[in-house]
Amino acid sequence: MSSPISRKWEHAVVTGGAGFVGSHLCKALLDAGAAVTCVDDLSTGRPENVAPLLDRPGFTLVQADVSQELPVRRRPDLVLHFASPASPADYLRLPLHTMEAGSAGTRNALTLAHESEARFVLASTSEVYGDPQQNPQDERYWGNVNPVGPRSVYDEAKRFGEALTTAHAETYGTDTCIVRLFNTYGPGMRGHDGRAVPTFVRQALAGEPLTVTGDGRQTRSLCYVDDTVAGILAAAAHGLRGPVNIGNPSEISMLALARLVVALAGSSSEVRYIERPVDDPAVRCPDITLARDKLGWEPRVGAEEGLRRTIDWFRAEAARG
Ligand SMILES: NC(=O)c1ccc[n+]([C@@H]2O[C@H](COP(=O)([O-])OP(=O)(O)OC[C@H]3O[C@@H](n4cnc5c(N)ncnc54)[C@H](O)[C@@H]3O)[C@@H](O)[C@H]2O)c1
Repeated sequence: MSSPISRKWEHAVVTGGAGFVGSHLCKALLDAGAAVTCVDDLSTGRPENVAPLLDRPGFTLVQADVSQELPVRRRPDLVLHFASPASPADYLRLPLHTMEAGSAGTRNALTLAHESEARFVLASTSEVYGDPQQNPQDERYWGNVNPVGPRSVYDEAKRFGEALTTAHAETYGTDTCIVRLFNTYGPGMRGHDGRAVPTFVRQALAGEPLTVTGDGRQTRSLCYVDDTVAGILAAAAHGLRGPVNIGNPSEISMLALARLVVALAGSSSEVRYIERPVDDPAVRCPDITLARDKLGWEPRVGAEEGLRRTIDWFRAEAARG
């Protein structure tokens, strides 16, 4: 496969840029020569994620809640809306904040993009497919979501964000794109954010039991963050409106993932089974035919390599204290 499609940006606004994915995006855009304004309220992000970028020319960090305001002084040609709690632990703790970020936050980011005649990219999620009755999921599948379950604050906020983005494009001609990200992992995650990879890595490195929910047969598809970022930027560069799935189609059970992390970390941790969360999806795997065909993009980093890099990063973080 050839290199994914790319484009040169002058000034990108990244909402949620101090978060896990957002900070990798900010760095990739700076590396590609763009100026970057990161707008983040630090509700789930970490200042450490962008600390190495603060001294780089063209980088600005603005602390603001995008549901209230989007104070950007310079006109952008790209707006990437990534501000939203994303891990279940975070959105269950911040239900209304999550819904505001997906609704008013998305509207404010769309307005900025429209008024600036900028390209707009919405970070949507595989959670719009809910507990899917079709595997793998392609973009034509409408999903199986419980609108009043505990996860609905996130799933429905993202579904609303997709509808709002589509309505903006139809009504005002805003140049929009929806990317549906599947589980992403890598350096920069918080060990206690509740997602499987950082939880398992933290536990394996501490010699604690790895807490696998249910019987561990439920699957996820894990995409290394560098691949995810390349996919997002390819979708931004292309005129595609989407939605387009960005994820790694290699599916793994949670039990197999736990065992792989233990092996790669050289740990002697055992597995402990705990209760499975309500409405937890049984399977999750992207069909990435659209991204392959239109964007020339597919993931390059396999699970072992990606997990090794992630484990190394967590080890170095622990050593730094
Ligand atoms: N990481 C994944 O596997 C994954 C998968 C699917 C979709 N996504 C989407 O990608 C985006 C980033 O996810 P992440 O994993 O980096 O999560 P994260 O929690 O690390 O980052 C989210 C960032 O948004 C900021 N934020 C939240 N609400 C805000 C608000 N109202 N105003 C300003 N900033 C706000 C947080 O402080 C944080 O820095 C989210 O929109 C998420 O839904 C992520």
